[in-house]
Amino acid sequence: MNILVTGGAGYIGSHTCVELLQAGHKVIIADNFSNSKSQVLQAIEAITGKKPVFYQIDVADYKALKQLFCENDIDGAIHFAGYKAVGESVQKPLSYYQNNFCTALTLAQVMQEEGVFRLVFSSSATVYGIDNPIPYKEEYPTGAVNPYGRTKVMIEQMLTDLAASDRRWSIALLRYFNPIGAHPSGLLGEDPNGIPNNLLPYIAKVAAGQLPHLNVFGDDYDTRDGTGVRDYLHVVDLAEGHLAAMDYMMEHNGVEAVNLGTGQGSSVIEVLHAFEQACGKQLPYQIAPRRPGDIGEYYAHPGKAERLFGWKAKRSLQQMCADSWRYTCRQNNL
Ligand code: WQD
Repeated sequence: MNILVTGGAGYIGSHTCVELLQAGHKVIIADNFSNSKSQVLQAIEAITGKKPVFYQIDVADYKALKQLFCENDIDGAIHFAGYKAVGESVQKPLSYYQNNFCTALTLAQVMQEEGVFRLVFSSSATVYGIDNPIPYKEEYPTGAVNPYGRTKVMIEQMLTDLAASDRRWSIALLRYFNPIGAHPSGLLGEDPNGIPNNLLPYIAKVAAGQLPHLNVFGDDYDTRDGTGVRDYLHVVDLAEGHLAAMDYMMEHNGVEAVNLGTGQGSSVIEVLHAFEQACGKQLPYQIAPRRPGDIGEYYAHPGKAERLFGWKAKRSLQQMCADSWRYTCRQNNL
């Protein structure tokens, strides 16, 4: 099939493009490099031996997106393009609402006009907010507590209304937990600009000697070791989940919200120790105050993805850290 991947030069998007190409699909990437680099396109080609079609466009640009659809016979789309930093969204809410919502709206409009009704949307566990019991189940009410999460809730609601208005639509709302790790080749991985907000890329920079120590944001949560617990899943497992979702949506109509997580939680300290094993050195850390907006523990109920898509995360935390370290070493000539 011909699959449009918006944000396909990004962390999760690029890993998904690799899996799509290796499964024999044709991939058309739309990305404006606002949070990615052009070198990623070379890495995708180096891994797969195939060159994706590439458009450097803003997905919210109706004319540019219309032209992409006119020039390519698209069978389905996977929509990753969007800003994703919780803290930044609190500082710049309008840019998050404009960018995240308008890219999704424009994509849905053009797809409807062009008669393309298969869509996989990159949503997030952040939509569950802070009041739901764990493990999170898809039928739980959504209600995010930051602008980033609210954009995901709004887009899910828009796409749910769209599917209710026209039976031809087939939409998967994939709610990611904490994607980490890198492609085993070491050619693709998470490479955020500046000081990372997220745990794994921060630890990787400590291991690479680029940051002095890890700040553990709170050790007084009601968890097994007092530090925050999250459901970390390998980015290649996540990418495979998108292919399974696309295959399912090709055979079914309607809208489905589906968790993509392992169903297991790991604490900050457990992740740090797993990374120490991967890099073969002790990593310094300091206990710091809790980070505003954080909650102590959440992880997925993974049953629906297995029941609907036949998908289950299979890579271990150790493998996530080993693959991440290999990528870090390659990126920094270590
Ligand atoms: C994980 C744990 C921190 C950094 C966010 C978004 C979510 C999704 C994934 C997009 C927490 C602790 C972290 C550090 C630390 N993104 N931590 N020191 O906050 O669970 O989820 O990223 O979809 O929407 O909210 O991920 O990696 O930032 O934090 O102690 O330097 O690590 O307190 O317990 P989070 P994270």
